[in-house]
Amino acid sequence: MNGIKLISTGSALPKQAVTNHDMAKIVDTNDEWIVSRTGISSRHHCSDGENHTGLCLAAARQAMEQGGIAPEQIGVCIVATVTPDFLSPAAACLLQRDLGLGEDTVCFDLNAACSGFVYGLHVAECLLAAAPRKYGLVIGGEVLSRVVDFTDRSTCVLFGDGAGAALVEWRADYPSLHAVLGCRGNQEALYVPGVHTGQPSFVHMDGQTVFRFAVEALPRCAKEVADKAGIALDQVDRFVFHQANQRIIDFAVKKLKVDPDKCTGNIARTGNTSAASVPLLLDELVASGALTSGQKAMCVGFGGGLTWAGGLLELA
Ligand code: COA
Repeated sequence: MNGIKLISTGSALPKQAVTNHDMAKIVDTNDEWIVSRTGISSRHHCSDGENHTGLCLAAARQAMEQGGIAPEQIGVCIVATVTPDFLSPAAACLLQRDLGLGEDTVCFDLNAACSGFVYGLHVAECLLAAAPRKYGLVIGGEVLSRVVDFTDRSTCVLFGDGAGAALVEWRADYPSLHAVLGCRGNQEALYVPGVHTGQPSFVHMDGQTVFRFAVEALPRCAKEVADKAGIALDQVDRFVFHQANQRIIDFAVKKLKVDPDKCTGNIARTGNTSAASVPLLLDELVASGALTSGQKAMCVGFGGGLTWAGGLLELA
């Protein structure tokens, strides 16, 4: 078994950008507090007529168009999400229908919160090794505006909506992701109650516990991926870290002693989009030419679960 390369990407953001000043009209907060604590200036929220399925579909379509890959070439379709429109059918099943993927395509949703997209890359790599068709779609999509409590200023300012898609190809001569995935089961630090719990389905978070977890997990995971791949961190061309908080990223950059110019992100404009965050940033980097053919991107997600996931993804 060997590995996958990134063929192409796509993304979709809701039309409505919600600035910190807009948030200050909803809860007792201000631009200075949000920017200095998180690096976030604005995020996108779905309006009427926009939904999770639509965002994922647009991102996936764009990735397929960019890659010049037809629906009948796709063997696996995974949607990483904690906010699908339906608990069943899976968002991936709706994409199978709307993209016209073959009925024998392996389609399912994956819940590993903010680590979900990188978990999905690894799962796709494993499944594509055995699949008859070697192209896979891995999508991270979230509509977190539907599960934040707009009376809780400590969480509602952090999260945004969006979807990013990666089209990958498995080949026996492609490098492995050298994925490192993990989980430390925890129900208290960051959770969204399910429909039968009797509690409202809002994001609950102990910010400081999650912060401490993140600044430990992110650099550790990045280092473990590099070790597994047998490369030094300075051989990585781009770091695509989950965009949860600029202070978490700055801490990791310092701890890993990597070039900050290789770690630029988009949190200022997107907020934390959970599973969508890594593929949204990947798409920006590919579209802007900041990640070019043959270059390696170290993708790392971390978050609810508590989970973490890292992998080294090369652009074909
Ligand atoms: N605007 C203004 N004040 C706010 C605020 C907001 N949006 N949210 C919280 N505050 C206030 C608190 O009420 C508190 O006030 P008090 O001292 O009068 O009680 C004060 O700011 C400090 O709150 P605290 O929670 O200690 O702030 P913090 O420095 O820990 O920052 C987070 C809060 C959420 C930004 C920070 O903990 C964090 O980023 N955690 C990680 C979150 C994350 O990344 N989660 C997703 C992981 S995938």
